[in-house]
Amino acid sequence: MQKTVLGIETTCDETAAAVVSLDEEGVGQIRANEVLSQIAEHAAYGGVVPEIAARAHVEVLDRLIARALEKAGTGFQDLDGIAVAAGPGLIGGVLVGLVTAKTLALVTRKPLLAVNHLEAHALTARLTDGIAFPYLLLLVSGGHTQLVAVRGVGDYVRLGSTIDDAIGEAFDKAAKLLGLGYPGGPEVERMAEVGDPERFALPRPMIGRREADFSLSGLKTALRIEAEKIAPLAERDVADLCASFQAAVVDVVVDRARVALRGFSGLAGRPTALVAAGGVAANGAVRRALASLAGEAGLGFVAPPLPLCGDNGAMIAWAGLERLRLGLVDDLTAPARPRWPL
Ligand code: KG4
Ligand code: ZN
Repeated sequence: MQKTVLGIETTCDETAAAVVSLDEEGVGQIRANEVLSQIAEHAAYGGVVPEIAARAHVEVLDRLIARALEKAGTGFQDLDGIAVAAGPGLIGGVLVGLVTAKTLALVTRKPLLAVNHLEAHALTARLTDGIAFPYLLLLVSGGHTQLVAVRGVGDYVRLGSTIDDAIGEAFDKAAKLLGLGYPGGPEVERMAEVGDPERFALPRPMIGRREADFSLSGLKTALRIEAEKIAPLAERDVADLCASFQAAVVDVVVDRARVALRGFSGLAGRPTALVAAGGVAANGAVRRALASLAGEAGLGFVAPPLPLCGDNGAMIAWAGLERLRLGLVDDLTAPARPRWPL
């Protein structure tokens, strides 16, 4: 029988609600996917302000849920569960989503599915491309940078992670340093397209290390030093700095993913694919480099379409469906978790 779940996402600066169905063959269908970005509210501060984020979620979440249900042509009575990202994330925002979901679950008597936001990013490729376990996941967002062997729902082995900044955070900080807007990733990518990636010899931290870990803070510092040397920056300089920075990140990502691929087989056998997820997976240069690495290894490369790379409700609903199918439902005591490793 087809199952349908509402997904709610409020862990950072996107308020999102979606309706996703799962048919008997295990194929998912996104029936509505409403996302309201708070970028405008945070732009002036150059980053997400937790208190502003939480308040903004409160203001729009109920309308967004109503709109998602309306677009999907469903009512609460048709749902088989209420899924919500219960963390990790900014606690004020997480609480807004979780309390809303608990209230809906209580009133409608539907199961609550308290989903890990990272798990939702990790499983999105199964919604969009129907891939099978196990696969190697590169999860790259504003708050997280991890290489993970995904062996099944709830069965994740971390092969590497960042010892300082997340890659998205490094993009955001680089953008801020260069006077570009927030969020920085798309801005840096746009400038990099017209810049010279070889003008500045930036470091490639961690390349060659045996563990698949990342370190980004040295790269950010090197970028700042180069920028300070030539200040005031002309547009050409900014473009070249962006291109050089992005090229360094791409080299690091490819090297780290290659190391993780080597470590994968001992843990989980042969991967079905190399999967990228999280906001940074929207970056064209990162996608192209990973696709070519996967090709070298004889693997497929899967990255969700751009609207499903960043935070969204469909991934939460889908993770909820994956859990519901296995009977992994939660009760109303499910906690909000600011930290929640995969
Ligand atoms: O997954 P996401 O939407 O939110 C978090 O859970 O963090 O990721 C947002 C991050 C931001 O740091 C943003 O700058 C980065 O993803 N990002 C990009 C691109 N688009 C978004 N980074 C590099 N290139 C992009 N095109
Ligand atoms: Zn995310």
